[in-house]
Amino acid sequence: MAIYIKSPWEIEKMAKTGQLHSQIFAQIEPHIRPGVSTYELDQMILEAIHQVGGKAPQIGYRAGGQVPYPSATCMSVDDVVVHGFPSKRPLREGQLLKIDFLFTYDGYTTDMARTYAIGKVSPEAERLMRVTEEAFWVGLELLQPGKRIGDVAAMVQDFVERQHGLWCIREMVGHGVGRELHEDPQVPNYGEPGKGPKLRPGMTLAFEPMVALYPAKMVILADGWTATVGKGNLAAHYENTVLITESGPRLLTGSQKSVPARP
Ligand code: MF3
Ligand code: CO
Repeated sequence: MAIYIKSPWEIEKMAKTGQLHSQIFAQIEPHIRPGVSTYELDQMILEAIHQVGGKAPQIGYRAGGQVPYPSATCMSVDDVVVHGFPSKRPLREGQLLKIDFLFTYDGYTTDMARTYAIGKVSPEAERLMRVTEEAFWVGLELLQPGKRIGDVAAMVQDFVERQHGLWCIREMVGHGVGRELHEDPQVPNYGEPGKGPKLRPGMTLAFEPMVALYPAKMVILADGWTATVGKGNLAAHYENTVLITESGPRLLTGSQKSVPARP
C-alpha cells in the first residue's frame, strides 16, 4: 500500500462518488425500522448502487487470506462492530445497526458508515451513538495539513475514553481510500500526539471512530469476518471520507454538522 496524493481532477471524481454515496444512505434511511431485515436493506443499497451506475466493491473482496466478503454492505448489529453479514432476521426495537460500505463510481471509491437506532434504544446506546459521532467531529478539526495521524488519533481517544468513559476499538483502523479500497496511511482511533505520518493536501482518508461501551478485545467469529466486542457490550461507528486541503478538512461523504462539536 501507499499514500496517494490525489490530483485536482481525481478529487472532483471522488467528490462525485461521495455525493452519490451520501445520497444512497439518505435514500435507504427511511426504510430502517423494526421488522425490516438487514438483507433487505443490503439489497436496496445494491439496487441503488446499480441504479446510479456505480459498483459495490465489497462483493468478493478479500484481505489477506480471508474468505471473500459476500455482500455489498456490512450490517453490524449491537456488539458487532464491523463486517457483519446482511441477515434475513428482522431487526428488533432497541437494536443498534451500523451500516458501512465502500462505493465505487467512475473508478474512484469512497467509504462511509453510520449507526442507526432501531426504534427506541437505551439511554446508554444513545449516548454511545452521540459520543461516537462527536468523536468524528472533534477529530475532524485536526485533519489539517501539518498535523500528524497521531494527533488525530490521540484526540479521538482522549475524547472517547478520558472525557466520556467509553472505549476506542484498537483492532480496526481508518485508512486512505480513493484509487484503491484501502490505501495508506492507517488512521487509528487511539495513539500519541506527534506520531505517525504528516497530513498533506490531496490525501483522502476514511476517518472512522469505532467505539464500544466497555473495554474489550475485539474478536472475529468463525465466519472469518464478523467482528464483535462480545455479548452485552455495544459498539457504534461513524465514518466519512475526508479530503485534506490547504485550508483544512473537506468532507467528500456526508455533510458538515451544523452544531458545534464541543459541548
Ligand atoms: N467499509 C469497510 C472498510 O473498508 C469494510 C471493508 S471490508 C469488506 O473500512 F470486505 F467488507 F469490504
Ligand atoms: Co473503512
